[in-house]
Amino acid sequence: MSDSFKAFVVDKTAEGVRGEVKTLSVADLPPGDVLVKVEASTLNYKDGLVAQGLGNLVKTYPHVPGVDFAGTVVSSASPQYYPGDAVILTGWRVGELHWGGYAQMARVSADWLVPMPPQLSARRAMAVGTAGLTAMLCVMALEDGGVTPAKGPVLVTGATGGVGSVAVAILANLGYEVAALTGKAEEHPYLETLGARRIVDRAEMSESLGKPLESETWAGVVDTVGGVPLARALAQMKYGGVVAACGLAASAKLETTVVPFLLRGVRLSGIDSVMQPKEARIAAWGRVARDLPFAKLEAIAHDHALAEVPELAKQILTGKIRGRVVIDVNR
Ligand SMILES: NC(=O)c1ccc[n+]([C@@H]2O[C@H](COP(=O)([O-])OP(=O)(O)OC[C@H]3O[C@@H](n4cnc5c(N)ncnc54)[C@H](OP(=O)(O)O)[C@@H]3O)[C@@H](O)[C@H]2O)c1
Repeated sequence: MSDSFKAFVVDKTAEGVRGEVKTLSVADLPPGDVLVKVEASTLNYKDGLVAQGLGNLVKTYPHVPGVDFAGTVVSSASPQYYPGDAVILTGWRVGELHWGGYAQMARVSADWLVPMPPQLSARRAMAVGTAGLTAMLCVMALEDGGVTPAKGPVLVTGATGGVGSVAVAILANLGYEVAALTGKAEEHPYLETLGARRIVDRAEMSESLGKPLESETWAGVVDTVGGVPLARALAQMKYGGVVAACGLAASAKLETTVVPFLLRGVRLSGIDSVMQPKEARIAAWGRVARDLPFAKLEAIAHDHALAEVPELAKQILTGKIRGRVVIDVNR
């Protein structure tokens, strides 16, 4: 095996932070007990920030971004993994505090990896990525709270985004009547293809009515936007409904009352994918393999090379990415 490999490296110079594809050697990698031959990574908002040197997420340079990756174990000092095992990594602050997946090789802690379900390939796992895993965790939170298709419709906010798109596809596949909240009139056909039965215009939920309760509409909500749409959704929950809140695309603020919790027994469930315990991750990846219709995922995933990262980073930070990006580190 050759010791050298390609990586997208960001470095801090007098002109600021910039990134380029470089050749590194295995000896350059940080310590860790598992060496992985990476096949694919993806693009998250955080990757955009790191690639552009924004957000103060990276503490030491040079740095290899890439929050997620999938590949095959080359060597392992841990009894958890053996050479040839297919593995996935998402979160644990890899790609920000630790070197990440924008490279043909990565060395990480065995505790951060999960075994790849046999139904997935590295590319497919990265078409899912942190966004898809988060969507699955949201769906599982609704189920834990007793939401079933018979209980009524489920609203997905930020529906054309990475998390939203996958949530719509999974929920529709599980038989839920999915309503998709979007600000993009031109994307209604895209959402209907994913399985949305109803489209809600973002403008309808963007203004506060100041009412603690509205008519009972949703059995469940997957919320990726926070702010006023989340407050409105809470007021519109059916009795015993569950809201899984994972994002802040609209706002980190939430102005609401406790009335939906007290009078309708509504549950607000927070979702974090980054530090999610390993057992829960393995369960969620198993559910992704079972419940995500892969033909729909293929239709929204597009492949890019490492050298395209700077341009893709600009696009994700300005909201110009639709669907899921796969970074093929061998291209
Ligand atoms: N908790 C976790 O572990 C976790 C993991 C992954 C992501 N996240 C968070 O989840 C959120 C969604 O992530 P993503 O990867 O899906 O992001 P994304 O691809 O950028 O999608 C966000 C979507 O939100 C909607 N949106 C954007 N600005 C909005 C605004 N001002 N008001 C209302 N809606 C707006 C848009 O959808 P429409 O145009 O269709 O409305 C957009 O496509 C982000 O806040 C992200 O940080 C959290």
